[in-house]
Amino acid sequence: MSTPVAIAFAETDLEAVAGAAGRIAVLVDAEGKLDPGARRVNRLTKGALARFTDSEAFAGMKPAEIVTLAWPAGLAAEAVDVVRLDRKASQADARRAGAELAKRQGKADVLLLAGSHPRAADIAFGFALRAYSFDAHRTAEPVVPGAVKVMVAKPEETAAAAGPMAALAEGVFFTRDLVNEPANVLTTDDFAGRLAAMQELGLDVEIIEEDELKALGLRALLAVGQGSESPSKVVVMRWNGGAADQAPLALVGKGVVFDTGGISIKPAQGMEEMTMDMGGAAVVAGVMRTLALRKAKANVVGVVGLVENMPDGRAQRPGDIVRSMKGDTIEVINTDAEGRLVLADVLWYTQDRFKPAGVIDLATLTGAIIVALGTANAGVYSNDDGFCADFLKAAAAEGEGAWRMPLGESYDKLIKSRLADIKNSAGRSAGSITAAQFLQRFVAAGTPWIHLDIAGVAMVQEETALAPKGATGWGVLALDRLVADRFEK
Ligand code: BES
Ligand code: MN
Ligand code: ZN
Repeated sequence: MSTPVAIAFAETDLEAVAGAAGRIAVLVDAEGKLDPGARRVNRLTKGALARFTDSEAFAGMKPAEIVTLAWPAGLAAEAVDVVRLDRKASQADARRAGAELAKRQGKADVLLLAGSHPRAADIAFGFALRAYSFDAHRTAEPVVPGAVKVMVAKPEETAAAAGPMAALAEGVFFTRDLVNEPANVLTTDDFAGRLAAMQELGLDVEIIEEDELKALGLRALLAVGQGSESPSKVVVMRWNGGAADQAPLALVGKGVVFDTGGISIKPAQGMEEMTMDMGGAAVVAGVMRTLALRKAKANVVGVVGLVENMPDGRAQRPGDIVRSMKGDTIEVINTDAEGRLVLADVLWYTQDRFKPAGVIDLATLTGAIIVALGTANAGVYSNDDGFCADFLKAAAAEGEGAWRMPLGESYDKLIKSRLADIKNSAGRSAGSITAAQFLQRFVAAGTPWIHLDIAGVAMVQEETALAPKGATGWGVLALDRLVADRFEK
């Protein structure tokens, strides 16, 4: 698994600046005022830094932007990265500044002179999140990045603030690796194995195999996987850090390790992206990892449905009618609308067994949400305004785009079936909403519920502020914060 860079926090030692190898980074506010670290760099470079901060080029810099002074005379370092960052910088700007430094690192050692900057830990966190690359399948020798050291006024304090962030970075990397992994590697067995390995962290992990799923009645989920050689599974991950009598928060994830569409097969163009169709399950897994690593004081259960949607002689057909665990019958209009079949049963199983205080499901559920919101926001659906507001607040605080979408009777009508209780596809219009309506049929009355359609945000073609292109890990930060703010108090 990809592990985040170890970032060391040390007391400021200005004597070490002249001889530091690699890259030195300094933080300069909008007025161009130099802190002691920057002043030392300026003196050693015979005023080069001040010449820059006096220039028009500096005046035009935006927060978190960097200009590099390369091969500076007077320093052993190969570069000085001048970061424009105010002392009152937002968390988002501080993280972006760190990310920008990470993009420049290459093989070099990095020495960040953060002085008494209040956002030093956030800068380090941004660095760690952006310094991710998925090289598991490259045969070339990987570039080994140098050591990253942050010099600060109070290293213990900064390191303490950075502790939970390190747990978050690990959770995010776990999610990204799972999403980036191809489907011939990340089979349902392999996925379940990686989740089981988290027992080492103190999570309670249980793998429910096909026989038992059959006995429990998760027929809609099993119908999706019946055309694949890989066995379907449900994996339950439990973190009990809260009071014994406290009902858990439940996180439910769609884990379709590959979505061919089944008999309603998808076009070849772009089908390779369907290796990311387990993105919801990956976020659930990443959050559980983070909660365990930072020993969260809350009870959270993560439940993921792992299946592969393949067409073979046993595959379900369009027109099939399956009976869900809840008991409602479903007409399968389109075998490519498989995520909702998986979630219907996993949602019901989770509520039936754990009686959760709230349920949040995550799924790369529809192409329609990409049409509606693109890659900047996930679609958010909820039956509970307070719960939803808390989630939106957590997402905004973490810079993860999320936008609430409507539910309603007039959409629900669209999933009526001629032959069964409901059908799994209502055609093109309002496609993400009708999918959410379908899921809501499997949420018990009175259970606060949020559905996150993450098809647009789980994996992207262009880099984002804190991630290279590919898997983003969207949602791990927001959900961890929601747990901290709503369930740990
Ligand atoms: N996994 C897809 C949704 C998806 C599309 C995720 C693009 C990521 C990128 C889902 O299973 C699917 O195929 N949905 C269909 C539903 C339709 C058949 C009602 C869709 O969105 O086209
Ligand atoms: Mn599909
Ligand atoms: Zn799918």
